[in-house]
Amino acid sequence: MEKLACNSNMVEVLDIDSGFETALNALQKGGLVAVPTETVYGLAADATHANAVADIYKAKGRPSFNPLISHVSGLDMADHHAIIDDTSRQLIEIFWPGPLTLVLPLKESSNICADVTAGLGTVALRQPKGVMARLADELGSPIAAPSANSSGRISPTTAQHVMADLGGKLDVILDGGPCVVGVESTILRCMEDGVHILREGGITTEDLAAVVGTLIHPQVPEPKVQAPGMLLAHYAPSKPLRLNANAANKGEAFLCFGPGFTKDSSISRNLSPSGDLEEAARNLFAMLKELDESRASMIAATSIPTHGLGAAINDRLRRAAHGANGGRSTDE
Ligand code: TXA
Ligand code: MG
Repeated sequence: MEKLACNSNMVEVLDIDSGFETALNALQKGGLVAVPTETVYGLAADATHANAVADIYKAKGRPSFNPLISHVSGLDMADHHAIIDDTSRQLIEIFWPGPLTLVLPLKESSNICADVTAGLGTVALRQPKGVMARLADELGSPIAAPSANSSGRISPTTAQHVMADLGGKLDVILDGGPCVVGVESTILRCMEDGVHILREGGITTEDLAAVVGTLIHPQVPEPKVQAPGMLLAHYAPSKPLRLNANAANKGEAFLCFGPGFTKDSSISRNLSPSGDLEEAARNLFAMLKELDESRASMIAATSIPTHGLGAAINDRLRRAAHGANGGRSTDE
């Protein structure tokens, strides 16, 4: 066990196994706990505890109109809180536990706080792999958890990222090592006209289409924002980010992908030297952070293939570029 003083608060950084009970106790008392998932680290609180949920928004500096994902222990807990249509149920059976979030009508009987759903009448549910679902099971309630980063900044894929950004505002950080997927969950909403993809993420469009056929992508710009997370500017580094670069210019750090990039004098990171998109997704946020903290004045990124996890990677890079280039980040 490691106890670290951070700002005014003492935060405990604990292993996911030995720290499980401490994390559970903190959640039961309405505390904030950083919890690893297969996608990114979440900033977790009991979704039925109004003060705890208010503290999530405060800690992140997140606007209150942007609802949170509730993490459940499985289908039974999901059924308790949401009305699940046949297509969503089929997707749940195939992809849970895993990086798939479904936006569903909230049941009137649900005790999930209004702040979690931002009063939308729908709730975003997912059963992640690992310790978060076990915590929800023991707690007996869904766990509200956005990514554990300050609103608009790069999402955390290690306990150290969380510590550096939000450490002083948390009760416990559970350290489960680096996240294995590395980009957030895919968010879907099944409607009468088909399955809408609200955010690209860890489950690929190709895998989803194999189950439900063609997916409906949001029009750009969205006439009415369905998932505020779709807003253009976030995941933002503090340095300007230039996309589709062939090489770094003087003073730029270089984020590249695939073989054929030999090390030159620029500060560079290769998301996957072998051109593996899963490895690239795992490395994306950590490498973006490293380059953001380097002495370079700008970051240049090469183009990334658009298939498979490449869709989610490109989505995050586009939003990061928009946020870094002066777009006002209003989300996450
Ligand atoms: O992988 C993930 O999804 C991670 C881990 C921690 O589970 N969580 C995450 O949460 O990315 P967050 O808050 O950073 O993104 C949640 C997204 C936001 O874009 C939010 O607008 C959208 O989900 N969302 C939540 N509830 C919604 C609802 N009822 N309708 C539409 N969008 C919703
Ligand atoms: Mg986020």
